[in-house]
Amino acid sequence: MKTVLVTGGAGFIGSHTCINLIENNYRLIVVDSNINSSPKSIERIRQLFKNKSIDLSDLLNFFHGDIRDKNFLNQIFANAKKDKSPIEAVLHFAGLKSVEDSFKDPMLYWENNVVGSLTLFEVMQSFNCNTVVFSSSATVYGITSQKSVDESSVINPNNPYGQTKAAVENLLEGIFKSYSDKWRIANLRYFNPIGAHESGLIGEDPNDKPNNLFPIICRVAGGTYKNLKIFGRDWPTIDGTGVRDYIHVMDLADSHRCALDFLLNNQPQFLNLNIGTGKGTSVLELIQIFSDVNECDISYEFCERRPGDLPVVIANNRKAIELLNWCPKKNLYDMCLDGWNWQKLNPNGYK
Ligand code: NAD
Ligand code: UD1
Repeated sequence: MKTVLVTGGAGFIGSHTCINLIENNYRLIVVDSNINSSPKSIERIRQLFKNKSIDLSDLLNFFHGDIRDKNFLNQIFANAKKDKSPIEAVLHFAGLKSVEDSFKDPMLYWENNVVGSLTLFEVMQSFNCNTVVFSSSATVYGITSQKSVDESSVINPNNPYGQTKAAVENLLEGIFKSYSDKWRIANLRYFNPIGAHESGLIGEDPNDKPNNLFPIICRVAGGTYKNLKIFGRDWPTIDGTGVRDYIHVMDLADSHRCALDFLLNNQPQFLNLNIGTGKGTSVLELIQIFSDVNECDISYEFCERRPGDLPVVIANNRKAIELLNWCPKKNLYDMCLDGWNWQKLNPNGYK
Protein backbone atom coordinates (compact mmCIF):
# COMPACT_ATOMS: atom_id res chain seq x y z
CA MET A 1 0.00 0.00 0.00
CA LYS A 2 1.43 3.40 -0.99
CA THR A 3 1.50 6.33 1.41
CA VAL A 4 0.54 9.71 0.00
CA LEU A 5 0.66 13.16 1.57
CA VAL A 6 -2.43 15.30 0.98
CA THR A 7 -1.87 19.00 1.70
CA GLY A 8 -5.10 20.95 2.20
CA GLY A 9 -6.92 17.64 2.57
CA ALA A 10 -9.54 19.02 4.99
CA GLY A 11 -10.79 21.46 2.33
CA PHE A 12 -13.53 21.05 -0.25
CA ILE A 13 -11.74 19.21 -3.08
CA GLY A 14 -9.08 17.61 -0.86
CA SER A 15 -11.61 15.94 1.46
CA HIS A 16 -13.56 14.45 -1.46
CA THR A 17 -10.32 13.21 -3.00
CA CYS A 18 -9.32 11.56 0.30
CA ILE A 19 -12.42 9.35 0.07
CA ASN A 20 -11.57 8.27 -3.46
CA LEU A 21 -7.93 7.54 -2.56
CA ILE A 22 -8.81 5.46 0.49
CA GLU A 23 -11.29 3.48 -1.62
CA ASN A 24 -8.44 2.87 -4.05
CA ASN A 25 -6.02 1.49 -1.49
CA TYR A 26 -3.86 4.48 -0.65
CA ARG A 27 -2.75 5.27 2.90
CA LEU A 28 -3.09 8.99 3.59
CA ILE A 29 -1.31 11.59 5.65
CA VAL A 30 -3.30 14.82 5.59
CA VAL A 31 -1.89 18.20 6.61
CA ASP A 32 -4.02 21.33 6.81
CA SER A 33 -3.83 24.65 8.67
CA ASN A 34 -7.65 24.83 8.56
CA ILE A 35 -7.41 28.47 7.47
CA ASN A 36 -10.37 27.76 5.20
CA SER A 37 -11.72 24.46 6.48
CA SER A 38 -12.73 22.48 9.51
CA PRO A 39 -10.94 19.40 10.89
CA LYS A 40 -14.47 17.97 11.19
CA SER A 41 -14.34 17.08 7.50
CA ILE A 42 -11.73 14.47 8.43
CA GLU A 43 -13.95 13.16 11.24
CA ARG A 44 -16.79 12.88 8.71
CA ILE A 45 -14.58 10.84 6.38
CA ARG A 46 -13.88 8.48 9.29
CA GLN A 47 -17.61 8.29 10.00
CA LEU A 48 -18.39 7.54 6.34
CA PHE A 49 -16.07 4.52 6.38
CA LYS A 50 -17.16 3.47 9.88
CA ASN A 51 -20.70 3.23 8.50
CA LYS A 52 -19.26 0.60 6.15
CA SER A 53 -17.43 -1.08 9.06
CA ILE A 54 -14.02 0.13 7.86
CA ASP A 55 -11.66 1.49 10.51
CA LEU A 56 -9.38 4.22 9.16
CA SER A 57 -7.07 4.58 12.16
CA ASP A 58 -4.04 3.36 10.21
CA LEU A 59 -5.16 4.61 6.79
CA LEU A 60 -5.91 8.26 7.48
CA ASN A 61 -3.73 10.43 9.69
CA PHE A 62 -4.42 14.12 10.12
CA PHE A 63 -1.87 16.72 11.25
CA HIS A 64 -2.77 20.33 11.87
CA GLY A 65 -0.05 22.60 10.48
CA ASP A 66 1.06 25.01 7.81
CA ILE A 67 3.00 24.02 4.69
CA ARG A 68 5.11 27.18 5.06
CA ASP A 69 6.52 25.64 8.25
CA LYS A 70 9.53 23.66 7.03
CA ASN A 71 10.18 22.01 10.40
CA PHE A 72 6.61 20.76 10.50
CA LEU A 73 6.87 19.26 7.00
CA ASN A 74 10.30 17.75 7.71
CA GLN A 75 8.81 16.06 10.76
CA ILE A 76 5.90 14.65 8.74
CA PHE A 77 8.22 13.15 6.11
CA ALA A 78 10.74 11.91 8.70
CA ASN A 79 8.08 10.19 10.84
CA ALA A 80 6.58 8.45 7.81
CA LYS A 81 10.06 7.19 6.86
CA LYS A 82 10.70 6.01 10.42
CA ASP A 83 7.38 4.15 10.39
CA LYS A 84 8.57 2.31 7.26
CA SER A 85 5.86 3.86 5.11
CA PRO A 86 7.69 6.72 3.40
CA ILE A 87 5.65 9.29 1.51
CA GLU A 88 5.77 8.30 -2.16
CA ALA A 89 3.77 11.16 -3.63
CA VAL A 90 2.03 14.41 -2.73
CA LEU A 91 -1.36 15.72 -3.72
CA HIS A 92 -0.95 19.44 -3.20
CA PHE A 93 -4.30 21.19 -2.60
CA ALA A 94 -3.24 23.63 0.14
CA GLY A 95 -3.69 27.21 -0.96
CA LEU A 96 -5.86 30.29 -0.74
CA LYS A 97 -8.41 30.54 -3.54
CA SER A 98 -10.41 33.76 -3.54
CA VAL A 99 -9.83 36.01 -6.54
CA GLU A 100 -11.39 38.95 -4.69
CA ASP A 101 -9.19 38.52 -1.60
CA SER A 102 -6.11 38.11 -3.78
CA PHE A 103 -6.66 41.64 -5.11
CA LYS A 104 -7.01 42.94 -1.53
CA ASP A 105 -3.89 41.19 -0.22
CA PRO A 106 -1.68 39.95 -3.07
CA MET A 107 1.36 39.49 -0.80
CA LEU A 108 -0.54 37.06 1.40
CA TYR A 109 -1.47 35.06 -1.71
CA TRP A 110 2.11 34.96 -3.01
CA GLU A 111 3.44 34.04 0.40
CA ASN A 112 0.92 31.33 1.12
CA ASN A 113 0.53 29.80 -2.33
CA VAL A 114 4.01 30.25 -3.80
CA VAL A 115 6.34 30.25 -0.78
CA GLY A 116 4.23 27.45 0.75
CA SER A 117 4.61 25.37 -2.42
CA LEU A 118 8.34 26.07 -2.67
CA THR A 119 8.83 24.96 0.94
CA LEU A 120 6.89 21.76 0.23
CA PHE A 121 8.90 20.96 -2.92
CA GLU A 122 12.20 21.55 -1.07
CA VAL A 123 11.20 19.11 1.65
CA MET A 124 9.97 16.60 -0.94
CA GLN A 125 13.29 16.81 -2.77
CA SER A 126 15.29 16.29 0.43
CA PHE A 127 13.30 13.09 1.15
CA ASN A 128 13.61 11.91 -2.44
CA CYS A 129 9.85 12.16 -2.93
CA ASN A 130 9.46 13.42 -6.48
CA THR A 131 5.86 12.83 -7.47
CA VAL A 132 3.32 15.64 -7.16
CA VAL A 133 -0.18 16.40 -8.40
CA PHE A 134 -0.76 20.13 -8.09
CA SER A 135 -4.14 21.92 -7.87
CA SER A 136 -3.96 24.51 -10.60
CA SER A 137 -6.85 26.40 -12.12
CA ALA A 138 -8.47 27.37 -15.40
CA THR A 139 -7.90 30.92 -14.21
CA VAL A 140 -4.26 30.64 -15.41
CA TYR A 141 -5.53 31.10 -18.98
CA GLY A 142 -6.92 34.59 -18.42
CA ILE A 143 -8.93 36.21 -21.18
CA THR A 144 -9.38 34.11 -24.27
CA SER A 145 -11.70 34.25 -27.26
CA GLN A 146 -11.46 30.49 -27.83
CA LYS A 147 -14.66 28.49 -27.48
CA SER A 148 -12.89 25.96 -25.32
CA VAL A 149 -9.33 26.15 -24.04
CA ASP A 150 -6.75 23.43 -24.46
CA GLU A 151 -3.52 23.13 -22.52
CA SER A 152 -1.48 24.94 -25.17
CA SER A 153 -3.57 28.12 -24.81
CA VAL A 154 -1.70 31.21 -23.66
CA ILE A 155 -1.11 31.48 -19.92
CA ASN A 156 -2.05 35.00 -18.89
CA PRO A 157 -3.90 35.15 -15.55
CA ASN A 158 -5.73 38.41 -14.89
CA ASN A 159 -5.71 38.28 -11.10
CA PRO A 160 -3.10 37.73 -8.32
CA TYR A 161 -4.63 34.37 -7.32
CA GLY A 162 -4.24 33.07 -10.89
CA GLN A 163 -0.73 34.52 -11.03
CA THR A 164 0.27 32.47 -7.99
CA LYS A 165 -1.07 29.32 -9.68
CA ALA A 166 0.86 30.10 -12.88
CA ALA A 167 3.99 30.80 -10.80
CA VAL A 168 3.80 27.40 -9.08
CA GLU A 169 3.29 25.72 -12.47
CA ASN A 170 6.42 27.56 -13.69
CA LEU A 171 8.36 26.55 -10.62
CA LEU A 172 7.42 22.91 -11.18
CA GLU A 173 8.39 23.14 -14.84
CA GLY A 174 11.79 24.51 -13.81
CA ILE A 175 12.24 21.69 -11.27
CA PHE A 176 11.36 19.16 -13.94
CA LYS A 177 13.83 20.66 -16.44
CA SER A 178 16.65 20.35 -13.92
CA TYR A 179 15.76 16.89 -12.58
CA SER A 180 13.92 15.32 -15.50
CA ASP A 181 15.13 11.83 -14.61
CA LYS A 182 13.38 12.02 -11.23
CA TRP A 183 10.29 14.20 -10.99
CA ARG A 184 6.80 13.16 -11.96
CA ILE A 185 4.53 16.20 -12.06
CA ALA A 186 0.92 16.85 -13.05
CA ASN A 187 -0.65 20.30 -12.91
CA LEU A 188 -4.40 19.75 -12.93
CA ARG A 189 -6.18 22.87 -14.17
CA TYR A 190 -9.64 22.65 -12.64
CA PHE A 191 -12.64 24.28 -14.22
CA ASN A 192 -15.70 24.74 -11.94
CA PRO A 193 -16.07 22.00 -9.30
CA ILE A 194 -19.49 21.84 -7.63
CA GLY A 195 -21.70 19.27 -5.85
CA ALA A 196 -20.77 17.11 -2.88
CA HIS A 197 -20.28 13.50 -1.85
CA GLU A 198 -23.54 11.60 -2.32
CA SER A 199 -23.66 10.66 1.39
CA GLY A 200 -24.27 14.29 2.35
CA LEU A 201 -21.56 13.87 5.00
CA ILE A 202 -18.96 16.09 3.35
CA GLY A 203 -19.26 19.11 1.11
CA GLU A 204 -18.10 22.67 0.59
CA ASP A 205 -17.89 24.78 3.75
CA PRO A 206 -15.67 27.84 3.37
CA ASN A 207 -14.89 29.77 6.57
CA ASP A 208 -15.83 33.05 4.89
CA LYS A 209 -18.89 33.93 2.84
CA PRO A 210 -18.81 32.11 -0.50
CA ASN A 211 -18.07 34.00 -3.74
CA ASN A 212 -18.82 31.24 -6.22
CA LEU A 213 -22.14 30.70 -7.93
CA PHE A 214 -23.09 27.20 -6.76
CA PRO A 215 -22.71 27.62 -2.97
CA ILE A 216 -24.62 30.90 -3.28
CA ILE A 217 -27.48 29.16 -5.15
CA CYS A 218 -27.57 26.57 -2.33
CA ARG A 219 -27.78 29.32 0.29
CA VAL A 220 -30.62 31.01 -1.58
CA ALA A 221 -32.43 27.67 -1.77
CA GLY A 222 -31.87 27.18 1.96
CA GLY A 223 -33.10 30.67 2.83
CA THR A 224 -29.77 32.02 4.18
CA TYR A 225 -29.65 34.53 1.31
CA LYS A 226 -32.70 36.33 -0.08
CA ASN A 227 -31.65 36.15 -3.72
CA LEU A 228 -28.83 35.57 -6.16
CA LYS A 229 -27.22 38.52 -7.86
CA ILE A 230 -26.44 37.58 -11.44
CA PHE A 231 -23.36 39.41 -12.65
CA GLY A 232 -24.39 40.71 -16.07
CA ARG A 233 -27.13 39.87 -18.55
CA ASP A 234 -25.44 41.16 -21.69
CA TRP A 235 -22.58 38.71 -22.16
CA PRO A 236 -22.21 37.31 -25.69
CA THR A 237 -23.68 33.94 -24.66
CA ILE A 238 -26.81 31.89 -25.23
CA ASP A 239 -28.91 33.94 -22.75
CA GLY A 240 -26.59 36.82 -21.82
CA THR A 241 -25.29 35.20 -18.60
CA GLY A 242 -21.83 33.73 -18.01
CA VAL A 243 -21.11 30.21 -19.26
CA ARG A 244 -18.89 27.83 -17.28
CA ASP A 245 -17.78 24.21 -17.31
CA TYR A 246 -19.18 22.70 -14.08
CA ILE A 247 -17.75 19.39 -12.94
CA HIS A 248 -18.91 17.16 -10.08
CA VAL A 249 -16.37 17.28 -7.26
CA MET A 250 -16.28 13.45 -7.14
CA ASP A 251 -15.31 13.33 -10.83
CA LEU A 252 -12.62 15.90 -10.10
CA ALA A 253 -11.51 13.78 -7.13
CA ASP A 254 -11.26 10.76 -9.40
CA SER A 255 -9.02 12.66 -11.83
CA HIS A 256 -6.47 13.00 -9.00
CA ARG A 257 -6.42 9.27 -8.35
CA CYS A 258 -6.03 8.64 -12.09
CA ALA A 259 -3.24 11.24 -12.38
CA LEU A 260 -1.46 9.74 -9.38
CA ASP A 261 -1.72 6.17 -10.75
CA PHE A 262 -0.51 7.40 -14.12
CA LEU A 263 2.51 9.24 -12.72
CA LEU A 264 3.54 6.40 -10.41
CA ASN A 265 3.34 3.84 -13.21
CA ASN A 266 5.16 5.81 -15.92
CA GLN A 267 8.47 7.46 -16.62
CA PRO A 268 9.26 10.81 -14.99
CA GLN A 269 7.33 13.51 -16.81
CA PHE A 270 5.69 16.93 -16.60
CA LEU A 271 2.01 17.32 -17.48
CA ASN A 272 -0.52 20.12 -17.70
CA LEU A 273 -4.08 18.80 -17.84
CA ASN A 274 -7.46 20.48 -18.06
CA ILE A 275 -10.02 18.88 -15.76
CA GLY A 276 -13.54 19.74 -16.83
CA THR A 277 -16.45 18.12 -18.65
CA GLY A 278 -16.07 20.04 -21.91
CA LYS A 279 -19.69 21.26 -21.64
CA GLY A 280 -20.81 24.82 -21.01
CA THR A 281 -23.76 25.90 -18.83
CA SER A 282 -25.04 29.45 -18.33
CA VAL A 283 -26.01 30.92 -14.95
CA LEU A 284 -29.69 30.85 -15.92
CA GLU A 285 -29.45 27.25 -17.14
CA LEU A 286 -27.84 26.17 -13.87
CA ILE A 287 -30.57 27.90 -11.86
CA GLN A 288 -33.21 26.16 -13.96
CA ILE A 289 -31.69 22.70 -13.51
CA PHE A 290 -31.20 23.26 -9.78
CA SER A 291 -34.84 24.37 -9.39
CA ASP A 292 -36.17 21.43 -11.42
CA VAL A 293 -34.08 18.77 -9.72
CA ASN A 294 -34.66 20.01 -6.20
CA GLU A 295 -38.17 21.40 -6.68
CA CYS A 296 -37.42 24.83 -5.28
CA ASP A 297 -37.38 28.44 -6.45
CA ILE A 298 -34.20 30.42 -6.75
CA SER A 299 -34.99 34.11 -6.81
CA TYR A 300 -32.48 36.31 -8.56
CA GLU A 301 -31.85 39.80 -9.81
CA PHE A 302 -29.48 41.06 -12.47
CA CYS A 303 -26.68 43.44 -11.57
CA GLU A 304 -23.40 44.78 -12.98
CA ARG A 305 -20.75 42.48 -14.40
CA ARG A 306 -18.16 41.35 -11.84
CA PRO A 307 -14.65 42.72 -12.49
CA GLY A 308 -12.36 40.06 -13.97
CA ASP A 309 -15.23 37.86 -15.20
CA LEU A 310 -15.21 36.21 -18.63
CA PRO A 311 -18.19 35.32 -20.82
CA VAL A 312 -17.34 31.68 -21.53
CA VAL A 313 -14.84 29.30 -19.91
CA ILE A 314 -15.00 25.69 -21.14
CA ALA A 315 -12.34 22.99 -20.99
CA ASN A 316 -11.02 21.03 -23.88
CA ASN A 317 -10.55 17.90 -21.74
CA ARG A 318 -9.36 15.49 -24.43
CA LYS A 319 -5.80 15.21 -23.14
CA ALA A 320 -6.85 14.13 -19.62
CA ILE A 321 -9.38 11.66 -20.98
CA GLU A 322 -6.92 10.08 -23.41
CA LEU A 323 -3.92 9.98 -21.10
CA LEU A 324 -5.38 9.21 -17.68
CA ASN A 325 -8.06 6.66 -18.47
CA TRP A 326 -10.39 9.08 -16.70
CA CYS A 327 -13.80 10.33 -17.72
CA PRO A 328 -16.32 12.52 -15.89
CA LYS A 329 -19.38 10.37 -15.14
CA LYS A 330 -21.79 12.66 -13.35
CA ASN A 331 -24.11 15.22 -14.93
CA LEU A 332 -25.59 18.54 -13.82
CA TYR A 333 -28.56 16.69 -12.31
CA ASP A 334 -26.18 14.81 -9.96
CA MET A 335 -24.24 17.98 -9.15
CA CYS A 336 -27.41 19.87 -8.17
CA LEU A 337 -28.90 16.94 -6.27
CA ASP A 338 -25.77 16.13 -4.27
CA GLY A 339 -24.86 19.77 -3.62
CA TRP A 340 -28.32 20.55 -2.28
CA ASN A 341 -28.40 17.32 -0.24
CA TRP A 342 -25.22 18.43 1.55
CA GLN A 343 -26.63 21.93 2.16
CA LYS A 344 -29.98 20.62 3.41
CA LEU A 345 -28.39 18.15 5.83
CA ASN A 346 -25.75 20.66 6.97
CA PRO A 347 -27.26 24.15 6.84
CA ASN A 348 -24.35 25.46 8.93
CA GLY A 349 -21.70 23.36 7.22
CA TYR A 350 -19.55 21.48 9.74
CA LYS A 351 -20.42 23.91 12.57
P1 NAD B 1 -10.38 24.94 0.13
O1 NAD B 1 -10.09 26.30 0.65
O2 NAD B 1 -11.63 24.28 0.56
O3 NAD B 1 -9.15 23.96 0.44
C1 NAD B 1 -7.83 24.40 0.56
C2 NAD B 1 -7.31 23.89 1.88
O4 NAD B 1 -5.95 24.31 2.04
C3 NAD B 1 -8.09 24.44 3.07
O5 NAD B 1 -8.47 23.37 3.89
C4 NAD B 1 -7.10 25.35 3.78
O6 NAD B 1 -7.32 25.39 5.17
C5 NAD B 1 -5.77 24.72 3.40
N1 NAD B 1 -4.62 25.63 3.40
C6 NAD B 1 -4.51 26.86 2.81
N2 NAD B 1 -3.27 27.35 3.00
C7 NAD B 1 -2.59 26.42 3.73
C8 NAD B 1 -1.27 26.36 4.24
N3 NAD B 1 -0.39 27.35 4.05
N4 NAD B 1 -0.89 25.25 4.92
C9 NAD B 1 -1.76 24.24 5.13
N5 NAD B 1 -3.03 24.25 4.68
C10 NAD B 1 -3.43 25.34 4.00
O7 NAD B 1 -10.31 25.03 -1.45
P2 NAD B 1 -10.68 23.94 -2.53
O8 NAD B 1 -11.83 24.44 -3.29
O9 NAD B 1 -10.72 22.60 -1.92
O10 NAD B 1 -9.41 24.08 -3.46
C11 NAD B 1 -8.28 23.23 -3.34
C12 NAD B 1 -7.19 23.73 -4.27
O11 NAD B 1 -7.70 23.76 -5.59
C13 NAD B 1 -6.73 25.15 -3.95
O12 NAD B 1 -5.34 25.21 -4.16
C14 NAD B 1 -7.46 26.00 -4.99
O13 NAD B 1 -6.75 27.16 -5.30
C15 NAD B 1 -7.54 25.05 -6.17
N6 NAD B 1 -8.67 25.33 -7.06
C16 NAD B 1 -9.94 25.37 -6.58
C17 NAD B 1 -10.99 25.65 -7.43
C18 NAD B 1 -12.42 25.71 -6.93
O14 NAD B 1 -13.30 26.15 -7.67
N7 NAD B 1 -12.73 25.27 -5.73
C19 NAD B 1 -10.75 25.88 -8.78
C20 NAD B 1 -9.44 25.82 -9.26
C21 NAD B 1 -8.40 25.53 -8.38
C1 UD1 C 1 -14.15 32.05 -10.06
C2 UD1 C 1 -12.89 32.85 -10.21
C3 UD1 C 1 -11.79 31.89 -10.69
C4 UD1 C 1 -11.60 30.76 -9.67
C5 UD1 C 1 -12.94 30.05 -9.45
C6 UD1 C 1 -12.84 29.03 -8.34
C7 UD1 C 1 -13.49 35.17 -10.69
C8 UD1 C 1 -13.53 36.24 -11.72
N1 UD1 C 1 -13.11 33.95 -11.13
O1 UD1 C 1 -14.43 31.43 -11.30
O2 UD1 C 1 -10.58 32.58 -10.86
O3 UD1 C 1 -10.65 29.81 -10.13
O4 UD1 C 1 -13.95 31.02 -9.10
O5 UD1 C 1 -12.64 29.63 -7.11
O6 UD1 C 1 -13.76 35.41 -9.52
N2 UD1 C 1 -21.94 34.50 -10.79
C9 UD1 C 1 -23.07 35.27 -10.59
N3 UD1 C 1 -23.37 35.62 -9.31
C10 UD1 C 1 -22.63 35.24 -8.22
C11 UD1 C 1 -21.48 34.43 -8.45
C12 UD1 C 1 -21.16 34.10 -9.76
O7 UD1 C 1 -23.75 35.63 -11.52
O8 UD1 C 1 -22.97 35.60 -7.08
C13 UD1 C 1 -21.61 34.09 -12.19
C14 UD1 C 1 -20.27 34.57 -12.66
O9 UD1 C 1 -20.37 35.85 -13.25
C15 UD1 C 1 -19.88 33.46 -13.65
C16 UD1 C 1 -20.55 32.21 -13.08
O10 UD1 C 1 -21.56 32.69 -12.20
O11 UD1 C 1 -20.44 33.74 -14.90
C17 UD1 C 1 -19.61 31.33 -12.30
O12 UD1 C 1 -18.95 32.11 -11.31
P1 UD1 C 1 -18.04 31.45 -10.18
O13 UD1 C 1 -18.75 30.32 -9.56
O14 UD1 C 1 -17.57 32.56 -9.28
O15 UD1 C 1 -16.82 30.83 -10.98
P2 UD1 C 1 -15.80 31.51 -12.02
O16 UD1 C 1 -16.15 32.91 -12.30
O17 UD1 C 1 -15.69 30.61 -13.19
